[in-house]
Formats: sequence, C-alpha cells, structure tokens
Amino acid sequence: MSGLSTKILPKTMLDNVKRNRAVYSVGRRLRFALGSRLGARVVPGLSGRVHYNDFMLTSPGQAHVDSYRAGALAVVDLLDESLATVGRDLASAKAVLEVGCGYGRIIRELRDRIPADRLYVNDVIDEGARFTAAEFGARQIPVVEQAGPEWSGRFDLIYLLSVYTHLRTDMIEDNLRRVADLLQPGGVLFFTTHGQGSAETAERYEQYWLDKRKVIEGLAETGYYYERYPYYYSEYGLTWMTRPCVERLVASVAPALEAVSWRPMGVGSHQDLYVWRKRQG
Ligand SMILES: C[S@@+](CC[C@H](N)C(=O)[O-])C[C@H]1O[C@@H](n2cnc3c(N)ncnc32)[C@H](O)[C@@H]1O
Repeated sequence: MSGLSTKILPKTMLDNVKRNRAVYSVGRRLRFALGSRLGARVVPGLSGRVHYNDFMLTSPGQAHVDSYRAGALAVVDLLDESLATVGRDLASAKAVLEVGCGYGRIIRELRDRIPADRLYVNDVIDEGARFTAAEFGARQIPVVEQAGPEWSGRFDLIYLLSVYTHLRTDMIEDNLRRVADLLQPGGVLFFTTHGQGSAETAERYEQYWLDKRKVIEGLAETGYYYERYPYYYSEYGLTWMTRPCVERLVASVAPALEAVSWRPMGVGSHQDLYVWRKRQG
C-alpha cells in the first residue's frame, strides 16, 4: 500500500474529472476518506511516517520523496537564515508556530533543529494538524482565527509556507491580523506569496483553467489576483500579490510588523519570501 499516490488518476484524466465539479468533489471526498482510513506508512528516505492524505507528497517515487524532503530542508535553512538577520537562531527559539502545517512536511525536518516541545501547529484540515502533532511531538493549537486571547504574544517565530498563496485577500487579512497578535514583541514572522515572478511563469502550475494573461493584468492593475479552484466549492485557489500590495496589506492590518527582508522567488524558485519583526512595546 505504500505505493498509493495522492493523485490516483493520470493528470489528463484528473483534469477531465475536475471539469465536473460535483463528480470531482465526490471523488476527492472518497480519496481522502480512503487516506484517513489507511492512516500513515513508512516511506524510505523520510524520517517519521507519512500520512496517506499528505498532498505535498504526490507519490512515493524516489524523485518526489527527494524533492519533498529537499523543499522542507530548504525552508528550515531559510527560517534559520531569516532569524540570523535579526540576531537570533532556531536553536534559541522558545515557541515556534507553523500556521497551515498540512501533514507535517516541514515540522518533520524542523524537529531535528528545535526540541519538539517548542513546536506548535495548526491547519484548517484538522486531520493534518492532529497527525503532525501526534507523529512529530508538536502541539496542535486552534486555527489562529479562532485562537483565544491566551495565545496572544506567545510565539517568537511564526511561519506560513504556501498558505497566503491560496487565500482571498480578506482571508489573508483576517489571518495576518491574528498572527501578528500571537507574536511576542520582537518576534519574527515568515510567510510566502506568489509574486510578479511567479505570475510571469504561471504555466508551471499546469492549471488548465488559469489564464496567465489575466494574472499579469490583475497584478498590473491592482497588485493582486485571486481565482478560486473552479473544481472546489470552498473558497480556496491561487493568489498572486506584488510587493507593494503585500506591504499595503501588512500596514493596514498588522501595523506592529516592520519589514526585515524580501526575497523574490526565494522559496523553491517560485514563491516570494517575506520576513517581518514585531516592534517592541
Ligand atoms: C499548500 S498547503 C502547505 C502545507 C505546508 N505549509 C507545507 O508547506 O508543506 C497549504 C495549507 O494551508 C492550510 N490553510 C489554509 N488556510 C488556513 C488557515 N486559515 N489556517 C490554517 N491553515 C490554513 C491548508 O489547509 C493547507 O494544509
């Protein structure tokens, strides 16, 4: 069973199914129900088990496993480098939160650098956060939009990898406002977006419904472009934002954050990386 891929159908067949939202939705529900039932398995080359619903590992083939791990290790290094720019490091972080941890791709590697009892996770996919916490020793907390006041000012590092790349702007604002509350003064925030470089290479996403011209025009006009995956019922899709748009958004909902660095296409050569620090006092 360790050979089960997250995507069971070949891409062209899957795209045809996706054109019928109702059919795709039923198929997806069944696929995830099967994954939930199977749980997790050992995948050679990865430490800790991998959940059958871990959508970040498209198949257990060697090339996919290598790129899943290399991607996570690169993020861990970037977290460390980002902390270094403000005179800190991973080893001395006391409480680290990954918002949108999925099924633990990054925590799986980060726990080699930070004791697991300092790691906290959440995800709107409760199963993903539950699995990550149970498998890797992290603690699950509520999604930040529902986290009570007891979580305010608790974290010295919060990171979101490939989360704002999928949300509508009002959802990003709600999330970011609360993320800024959860940071302690001096705490560091790290998040990624799709920016101009990603828009100009949007064909890499291989989405039959996506018109790259519209993305580039949207960015030129407003600095922002979002389109919901047409085969989903929930509000989740692909989002692009220019740097000025991100800066406006942060200034309006999280003015306590000051910019530390920006690396265009700095993650996986396609996502922009932003690092911020919460002002003291
Ligand atoms: C592309 S996946 C990335 C998963 C993980 N960060 C990684 O890089 O392996 C995006 C994740 O963000 C989660 N997500 C989306 N909106 C969220 C929110 N408001 N709070 C927590 N998680 C969220 C999704 O459920 C999904 O697991």
